[in-house]
Amino acid sequence: MTAGLVLGIDIGGSGIKGAMVDLLAGDFATERIRIPTPKKSTPERIAAVAARIAQQFSDQLGDEPIGVTIPAVVTHGKTRSAANIDKSWIDADAQTIFEEVIGRKVVLVNDADAAGIAEVKYGAAKGHPGLVIVTTLGTGIGSAIINRGVLVPNSELGHLEIDGHDAETVASAGVKTKLDLSYSEWVPLLQRYYSHLENLFWPDLLVVGGGVSKNSQKFLPKLTLKTPIIPADLRNRAGIVGAAWLAADSVSNPDPV
Ligand code: BGC
Repeated sequence: MTAGLVLGIDIGGSGIKGAMVDLLAGDFATERIRIPTPKKSTPERIAAVAARIAQQFSDQLGDEPIGVTIPAVVTHGKTRSAANIDKSWIDADAQTIFEEVIGRKVVLVNDADAAGIAEVKYGAAKGHPGLVIVTTLGTGIGSAIINRGVLVPNSELGHLEIDGHDAETVASAGVKTKLDLSYSEWVPLLQRYYSHLENLFWPDLLVVGGGVSKNSQKFLPKLTLKTPIIPADLRNRAGIVGAAWLAADSVSNPDPV
């Protein structure tokens, strides 16, 4: 893959953020721009915000595509799900919409996949030779499975069924906030989730990201698991950095389908 500067854009529920990423350093090479997410978040309206961000960096964009994250399943440029976003994303040809609005090549990826690959390439699991599962605890639960440095996309392990419920509706950080749970009230819910996860996948390492991971010492040490479980390193930089990495990687490993 090329090792220049690549623009990463991370689409979140409250903000759309972008920065040029130095892929050698695995970090921002510029300031980060943040624009509030439009209330009615259709693909066209989000693409227009992404175009404003790309415009700000226009003099630094090279030949590589722009990496963009979205909290949805993405197969071959199409968004296929919308657990916590506007339903208009389901089956939208979102990558093409972004390319038309931005006027440049775009690689659209799942948000947790981007965060996960960033942690394995540059962060808490840097260079890990085995099976790493990165989970992001936010409004939902995102996941990335990376085996021997290779991402298995769209794992969606936040939607594992636990006791008849969609896991992210009972154990996410969003649930903690909504129900005003203390960390000690939240830990048993996380315990149930991560025990189930490790019994299904037997990872070598679990990495936990999302905003709440900055308080990881309040909950990770209280979990009893067979797998080592550690906080993410890149935190809110992971989506942007991972999107840029995946965009650059797509140049040498294009979508085969
Ligand atoms: C979505 C995933 C996303 C995760 C974190 C889930 O609800 O289904 O695609 O990665 O939330 O944003």
